[in-house]
Amino acid sequence: KGIKFDFTNLFKPNVNSGVTEAEIDDYKEEITKIIENIFEEKPGFLDVPFTRKWTDSVLDIKNWVQKFESVVILGIGGSALGNQALQTALNPLNYNSMSKEERKSPKVFIIDNVDPDFVSSILDQINPKTTLFNVISKSGTTAEAMSNYLIARGLIDTYGLNPSKHLLFTTDPENGVLRKIAIEEDIRTLEIPQNVGGRFSVLTPVGLLSAMAGNIDIIDLFNGARDMQKILNNKNVWENPAALNALIHFILNKKGFSMSVMMPYSNRLYLLADWYRQLWAESIGKKVNLKGEVVNVGQTPIKALGATDQHSQVQLYNEGPNDKIITFLKLENFERDITIPSIHSDIEALKYLGGKKLSELLNTELTGTEYALVEHNRPNMKIIFPAINAYNIGQFLFMYEFSTAVMGSLLEINPYDQPGVELGKKVTYALMGRKGYEEMASDVNKKLSE
Ligand code: PA5
Repeated sequence: KGIKFDFTNLFKPNVNSGVTEAEIDDYKEEITKIIENIFEEKPGFLDVPFTRKWTDSVLDIKNWVQKFESVVILGIGGSALGNQALQTALNPLNYNSMSKEERKSPKVFIIDNVDPDFVSSILDQINPKTTLFNVISKSGTTAEAMSNYLIARGLIDTYGLNPSKHLLFTTDPENGVLRKIAIEEDIRTLEIPQNVGGRFSVLTPVGLLSAMAGNIDIIDLFNGARDMQKILNNKNVWENPAALNALIHFILNKKGFSMSVMMPYSNRLYLLADWYRQLWAESIGKKVNLKGEVVNVGQTPIKALGATDQHSQVQLYNEGPNDKIITFLKLENFERDITIPSIHSDIEALKYLGGKKLSELLNTELTGTEYALVEHNRPNMKIIFPAINAYNIGQFLFMYEFSTAVMGSLLEINPYDQPGVELGKKVTYALMGRKGYEEMASDVNKKLSE
């Protein structure tokens, strides 16, 4: 039961993948200490699968949520990417266009940008009278989430609807404007645990509400995360896939492998790579002061889709600069399959395809890509999903959160903050006329006009 990890392509004899078993062994003691520290210090995300509290808080309002025709999520970054990954992985790709009888649960839309064409295109698809808007913002100040809240609120008011019947806020238990509005206007809320940062919050009500709305089995998601947490409470790096994954990436990163590609061979798993991109980028891309010297660390996460990107990226991965480690996500059993018809059997270039399943073709292409990368001495590894289900996805998400924590310790950085996004945010506030930012606005305008 559960996902499997295949690191064998990295440690094949006669292949120079950039990392050796002996190098991993050199870090055995350090990794033991890092794992001990993580379990001792208990960063917020680690605690999430210890308690059913968060899952239950979402299940408690299931009857209310499921009555709506549509549920629209308004959030960005860590308050949206996990939701998208869960919906795409665990519901049919055409979920929102299925009939109500087939879906048996509300349509789920996720608005995670302030592009007016995009926002309008989603609002065109809903009827505010039968819609629940779930505003998700831990800080309750993020400009994108807040402006989309105001737009939803405008619709609710225009239609003369009762805000408390169409709004649900997922936010900090005490702070922020959403909490204030919720108290004043009796709007239902779900809590984001205070010690869990946005990009680590998919297994809290942040990700769970929309998952539950889409009828995803959130208890199994929780069970997968909880079981993975038990697997990761193992101080031996060779038996701890999250620690081994982090260490491999760390060793390669030090040698100039500055990019980490995640390449699912499954459209349903593709947005897991998007979720990973934020987790890895925002958590470990940092400026640090190491023994008096300022150093910039990080590894650029990239997403690619098999087989589509074989015709876009794989040339670069094989023959371009040897600076990437590639993690494939392989799906063993697809929920649906298609047999390619045997037509044109007199044409050799088509004959061999006839009678084969699409899943066999896709996974054979993965084998071909892996083989070529190994031949070119390009580091690659694989995570195998026997099937796509909530349990396996829960395992995957927790494993990467833990791996990010280990990578943070190896790099001696704080993986839970994001000071580098602050300046751009403040400049936006200043230029959009937010009170308190007048001085900054005049400085910025001066510099922009130089
Ligand atoms: O990981 C993070 O902390 C960020 O990406 C946040 O999730 C993102 O900036 C949105 O923040 P908030 O939930 O406060 O609106």
